[in-house]
Formats: sequence, C-alpha cells, structure tokens
Amino acid sequence: VVVGSGSLALAVRSLVRTHAGRLLVVVSDARVARLYGRRFAESLARGGARSRLLTFPAGERRKTRETKSRLEDRLVREGAGRDTIVVALGGGVTGDLAGFLAATWHRGVPVVQIPTSLLAMVDAALGGKTAVDLPGGKNAVGAFHQPESVWADVRCLRTLPDRDYRAGLAEVVKTAAALDATLFGLLEARAAALRRRDERLLERIVARCLAIKGRVVAADERDSGPRAILNFGHTVAHALEGASGFRLRHGEAVAIGLVLEARVARARGAFPERDLGRLERLLVALGLPTSLPRAIAAGDVVRLARRDKKTRGGVVRYAVPARIGRPRTGPDPTEPLDVERDLAPLLA
Ligand code: GLY
Repeated sequence: VVVGSGSLALAVRSLVRTHAGRLLVVVSDARVARLYGRRFAESLARGGARSRLLTFPAGERRKTRETKSRLEDRLVREGAGRDTIVVALGGGVTGDLAGFLAATWHRGVPVVQIPTSLLAMVDAALGGKTAVDLPGGKNAVGAFHQPESVWADVRCLRTLPDRDYRAGLAEVVKTAAALDATLFGLLEARAAALRRRDERLLERIVARCLAIKGRVVAADERDSGPRAILNFGHTVAHALEGASGFRLRHGEAVAIGLVLEARVARARGAFPERDLGRLERLLVALGLPTSLPRAIAAGDVVRLARRDKKTRGGVVRYAVPARIGRPRTGPDPTEPLDVERDLAPLLA
C-alpha cells in the first residue's frame, strides 16, 4: 500500500516493471477517464506495457451486472486472457466493479486498486470487498478479492467535487471514532485544514486510515467478527441511502448513521454522552449532515432498516464502539437494533 502526493507516477513505473508483457486493463468511469485514465493508460504504454482503457458511465447506479457484462465483452474483444491484470482507477464504484470483474475473469486475475476519491482511499480500496448492486440489494453479488497493491495519490483529491470530498470525510471520521482516539483528536484539531484539503495532512490521515484498516482486515479478512466495527454507522446509513432514492451520498448517509447509531447506544448507556457531542461537533465542522434531511420520510427509513432483518436471520445488528477510538471487547462488535423501539423515535 503506497500513499503519497504524486504516487500515480510511481504506480505506472511499478506496474511497467512488475508486469512486463502482460495486458494491463485500466477500468475507469467516464469522468475519471477524462481526468486521469487516458493519461495513465498512455503512460503505461509509453513505459512499454500493453495497456487498454475500459470505461463505463459514472454513478452508483452503474454498479450493476449489466456494466460488468459489458466490460467482460470488451475483455473478450481485447483478447484478454489469464495473464490480464485489472487496474481499478477511480472511486468506490470503480473499485467494487473492477475488483469483481478481476475476481471472476478466468476464475480470478490480479487487481491493482488506484483510488481517486477520498472514500475509496480510506476505505473501499483496501480489504478485498468487491461487488455489484442488484435492484433490491446493495452489494448483493460479489466476492472477496484482495488487491495486489493499492496506490493512493492524494493529489487526485484536488479534482474531487466538494460534496464527494466531504462525503469521504465521513469514512475518515468513522475509522477514527471506531478505532483511533488519537486520529479523532487530530481531525478535531485540524478540521479547517482538512476542509481546505491540506495535502500534507491528507497524506498523514489517509496513511493512518489505511494502516488501521489493514490491521482490522488482517485479523478478520472474511468479515465474520471484529471487522464489523468498520460498519459503525452503516446499518442506518444503508436504510437512509435507500430511503433517499440514492440521492444522499454514501458518506452523507454514514455521517447521519454514525450519529443516530451512537445515540441509540447512548440511550442504552453503551456510549458516553460526551463522545456523542464530540462526534456531532466534528461532523458539523467537516460540513457533514447529522440528522435526517427533511426530504427523507422517517417511515421509509424504518421500513428499509427493518428489511435488513430478513437478510440477517431475523435480527438487525449495528456496530458502535464502547467510546471514541475504543471498539467493544469480545469476538462480535455488533449488537441487536430494535428498529421500532430504538431507532424510530430518533427519526421523529
Ligand atoms: N467498508 C467496510 C469493510 O471493508 O469492511
């Protein structure tokens, strides 16, 4: 895992050196292809590599089986075989989609993750979760497929739209709140610089988040225990995203989910009042929402959160740390969430 300002150039050099003679298929959405993808694929070719750029239309709605099939048809036309390397260059959608493409192409070829959004850098690119969405289920079909390498170039964040940048900060806050009190303190102290996208600070923060995530994933690669703490805020967030018709960004939903789940835990005496205040203040300082937007109906959130039950053996679960930076001890960091009793009153 390499984090730096300008590390895209290092990625090119490393890929050319380590994969001479193999086909490097760069997958990007149309927006990232325009900003970075074309130049990246050209640099690979200039370095002497065989490379192709495959693009798809941007947006979470394109993370589908249909997009994956189209990319597979392209791979056939390009003569891609078992010696292909897939390079996922883009945000979370690209990483998930291209990662899954690599996981199933000829029963699995290597994937290199080059995240260009903050959300992908600090969370999605590392850990091997790859998937596409079905109409009724986010990430319903996928595979664990660990990246061969991850290259996070914080310079790419310069071109990220403000709303997406802020949404990515929610996953940074999640990581710190769940697992690292020192990082949480740094975010509080440097919130203004973070809003300004200070690159030195971003390097430090992205590296820290990746180190933390790497440790958690190494301990529970298949997400059957302690890794669940990385889902802090996400039980509620997934219901919020659905209820908003995916108009809320994933990170915005996570910001609201962090606060609501921490509030549920606080009401049960399982999360300190003081830490709840710190969490809300930090999210506000970073320009993130902390309560249900007016345009989203509370009833829809409750209905969707309840639906989670069906997919989790009749019990909705959520994961909240014991306090900022300190996960609960024991093999399972999740607790049951009674949607009607615990969550619905907070949405009123
Ligand atoms: N994004 C949560 C995880 O990778 O487990």
